[in-house]
Amino acid sequence: MSQPILFTPFHVGGLELENRIVIAPMCQYSAVDGCMTDWHLIHLGQLALSGAALLTIEATAVTPEGRISYADVGLYDDVTEKAMDSTVSSIRKWSKIPIAIQLAHAGRKASTEKPWLGEAQITPDRPNGWQTVAPSALPMYSSYLPPLALDRQDMASVRGAFASAARRADRIGIDAFQIHAAHGYLLHEFLSPHSNHRTDEYGGPIENRMRFPLEVFETVREAVSPSKPVTVRLSASDWVSGGWNLEQTIQFSRRLEEIGCAAIHVSSGGLHPDQKIPVGPNYQVPLARAIKQSVAMPVVAVGMITEPTQAEAIVATGDADFVAIARAALYDPRWPWHAAAALGAQVTAPPQYFRCQPPQHKALFKS
Ligand SMILES: Cc1cc2nc3c(=O)[nH]c(=O)nc-3n(C[C@H](O)[C@H](O)[C@H](O)COP(=O)(O)O)c2cc1C
Repeated sequence: MSQPILFTPFHVGGLELENRIVIAPMCQYSAVDGCMTDWHLIHLGQLALSGAALLTIEATAVTPEGRISYADVGLYDDVTEKAMDSTVSSIRKWSKIPIAIQLAHAGRKASTEKPWLGEAQITPDRPNGWQTVAPSALPMYSSYLPPLALDRQDMASVRGAFASAARRADRIGIDAFQIHAAHGYLLHEFLSPHSNHRTDEYGGPIENRMRFPLEVFETVREAVSPSKPVTVRLSASDWVSGGWNLEQTIQFSRRLEEIGCAAIHVSSGGLHPDQKIPVGPNYQVPLARAIKQSVAMPVVAVGMITEPTQAEAIVATGDADFVAIARAALYDPRWPWHAAAALGAQVTAPPQYFRCQPPQHKALFKS
């Protein structure tokens, strides 16, 4: 059997990755005051043994108000840094997997309850709630309290918070940085005409709507070690008429590439309540393919990629350079092992587990 492309090495900037499978960021709503807890060690620890090429830490808020909920991970002071350092150091003792972090600000979608408790907005007058901020004072849902529109001083402080969180992550040895510009959170809110009604040079034409996300990218790029990749996750479509779309995404991706972006991770939606997402296997792959045809940097496809042959086809046809998996990795934390077995490839596994190698896949594991 020829070597499956899914298990061939590739690089993102200067970071060599041993295969094309990335664990997507997944919020766990299990932090306390922004600090990672034992849950994060259990959760990230098991995924660090998955055989994937890169493990991405969940959306990590750069300010307390930038958390989606009171139980989100943050990286905005020495205490949150120490908590993350402890988790990452423990994982590092036992796994060589490169670790990326998603740096995020939830904008008008902040201050909510945990998903399994209903996810409703918590208003500032209630415990665990605070005033949200956004490019414009437009709530996502009419039932939500409107966010405060950021002024220029606030925007400078958000930019500074992204840089400071990136520096902290760099200091604790994170290998790659992903700026969260997807799913209707703050940076996506600047990009989309539905959430950005500003009349200054940060609103209106696409050049203006891209300005703040591009500034944040540049600030983070300057803040971290030059050898470490800085990437962006974006929503390539709002899936609603008059919104952010693929054509604008291509323009944004090209600009990011010009200023040193190392990879684009292509998701979609999350900004508008009327979105109509054609959910199904590979539903975001056409967006990734269109972006891949327009840029030279690596492109990551994500969204209902659950089968090894499906993932192999995405990278083998050149639709994307990497696949990211989220729910499939929660369901089966050794998904990359099982994909390697199905496709006849090799995968990194801890020597402690070597004895579970199935007899019919004798050369499955490497250390
Ligand atoms: C539990 C859970 C938490 C998530 N948290 C994040 C997050 O922190 N940041 C993000 O960009 N996407 C987040 N997502 C979206 C996933 O990264 C992914 O894009 C989405 O689930 C589609 O991929 P999948 O079909 O492989 O699950 C989350 C998804 C799940 C299921």
